[in-house]
Amino acid sequence: MTERILIKNGRVMDPSANLDERLDILIEDGRVTEVSSDIKPQGDVETLDATGCIVTPGLIDCHVHLRESGRKGEAMETEKVKETIRSGTRAAAKGGFTTVLCEPNTTPPIDSWERVNELQERISSTSFVRTYVKVSMTVGMQGESVTDIEKLSVHPLVKALSEDGNPIVEEKLMYEVCRRAAKNNLPLSCHSEDSSFSLAKRSRKLGFRPREDFHNEPNFIARDILLAEASRAQIHISHVSMRESLEVIRRAKARNRTRVTCEVTPHHLLLDDSFRDPRGLRATVNPPLRSKEDNAALIEALKEGMIDVIASDHAPHREEDKRAGAPGFIGLETTLGLVLTKLVQPGIISLMHAIRMMSTTPSTIFHLKDGSLKKGARADVTIIDTGREWTVDTGGFESLSRNCPFEGWKLRGRSVAVIVGGRIIMRDGELIRCA
Ligand code: NCD
Ligand code: ZN
Repeated sequence: MTERILIKNGRVMDPSANLDERLDILIEDGRVTEVSSDIKPQGDVETLDATGCIVTPGLIDCHVHLRESGRKGEAMETEKVKETIRSGTRAAAKGGFTTVLCEPNTTPPIDSWERVNELQERISSTSFVRTYVKVSMTVGMQGESVTDIEKLSVHPLVKALSEDGNPIVEEKLMYEVCRRAAKNNLPLSCHSEDSSFSLAKRSRKLGFRPREDFHNEPNFIARDILLAEASRAQIHISHVSMRESLEVIRRAKARNRTRVTCEVTPHHLLLDDSFRDPRGLRATVNPPLRSKEDNAALIEALKEGMIDVIASDHAPHREEDKRAGAPGFIGLETTLGLVLTKLVQPGIISLMHAIRMMSTTPSTIFHLKDGSLKKGARADVTIIDTGREWTVDTGGFESLSRNCPFEGWKLRGRSVAVIVGGRIIMRDGELIRCA
C-alpha cells in the first residue's frame, strides 16, 4: 500500500531551494508532491505534527564504517561484533540520517561486484536507512592492483572509491586509479592518513617520509589532489584535521582544475590532543586529535565556507580493542546534536549552513540526487526538535559499540522523525521499521 504522509506546521529548511518558511509537506508514492502553507488532510493520510520543529531534507552521513561484509552475513549477528548494517543503520536513523555511505575496510574488503552484491542483499533485508557503498581502490585493499572500476562504477549502490585509512603509496598506481575514476565519473574519497601498513616499506616511493605522529596529512592531500587534477578526477578529502591541510585544499579550490571538496568530523572540530575520556577509554583515532590551533583553524574554515561537509567517520570498536588502542570513535547518534549545540547555537554557523553541509552538499558530491524537499524529490526527510535537551548516554545507543568520546555531554537538538523514500522509519524518536 502506498503511504501518504502530511507533515504539518514545521519550519521547512531546504538548502537546495534556499527555503526557510513555515510550510506543510505532502508526500505520496515516495515523493514530495506539495510544499505549501496549510495543506488540508484529505483521504487516507498519516499526519505528522512538526510544530516547533524544523523539517529538512534527509541528512546524509558520507563517512561511516558499518563493519559488515556481505559474506559474513548472519554470522555477524552475535554479541561480539562491533556493528552490523542493522545496528549501524538503526544508529543512523536515530541520529537523523536517512542515508549513509559505508567504507570498504571490512573483512574481506568491498572490492568487487560480488562483494557489493552480497552487501546489497544484507542492506535490502536489514538496513533502516538508504545505504550506499564506497568500494576499495585496490584489490583486497593491498595497494597492488586496481579494482575493476569500470564495472563497479555502474553498480547502483557504488558511489565512490576509497582506500580508507590505507592510502595508496605508489604514485603510479594512484594515478591509474584517478584516471579510471575520472573516465567512469566516480568520485575519489581519500583518507590521506599515515596509517597505511605499507607506508614504511614503500615510503621511498613517496616524496615524504612516514611519521609516527601522523603529520603527513597535508602531504598526502597535496599529492592526491595533484594526481586528481592531472586526470580531472573528482576528489573528496575525508576528515581534514590539520591547519596546513586546509591551506592545500584552499589553493586547489582556487585553481579550480578539478572538483575538490572536503569534510570535517565533530571530534576534530571539538576535541584536541589534551582530551582524556572520562571512562578511561583511549582517545585514539585516525587522524589523531590535534592541537587547539588546528581546532580553531577548522572552525574558521567552516565559517568561511571552505569545508563542504560534516561527516561522523562512525568507527565502531569493541571495548577490549579500544583498550588495546584501536583507532576511531562512533558518531552517528551524536553528530547532529553536537553540530546544533556547539556550532549553530553559539552562532559559529547558521542552521541553514549546517543542514546544507549534512544533506544537500554530500548529495551533490556523491551524485545521489537527494538532499532536497522540492516538489518531485524523493521523500527523504528529517524532522528535528531543535529545543530538545538530552545527555549523551552510550548505554542507550543503537550502535553495538560504545567508543564515543562525548559521553555525558549535554546537548540541545535531536531528530524526532525520519522518513526514507516516503516511509516513516522513526516517529516520536522511536524506530518503527526497516527502510
Ligand atoms: C577507522 C576504522 O576504525 O575503520 N578508524 C579511524 O580512526 N578513523 C580506520 C582508519 O581510518 O584508520
Ligand atoms: Zn574512514
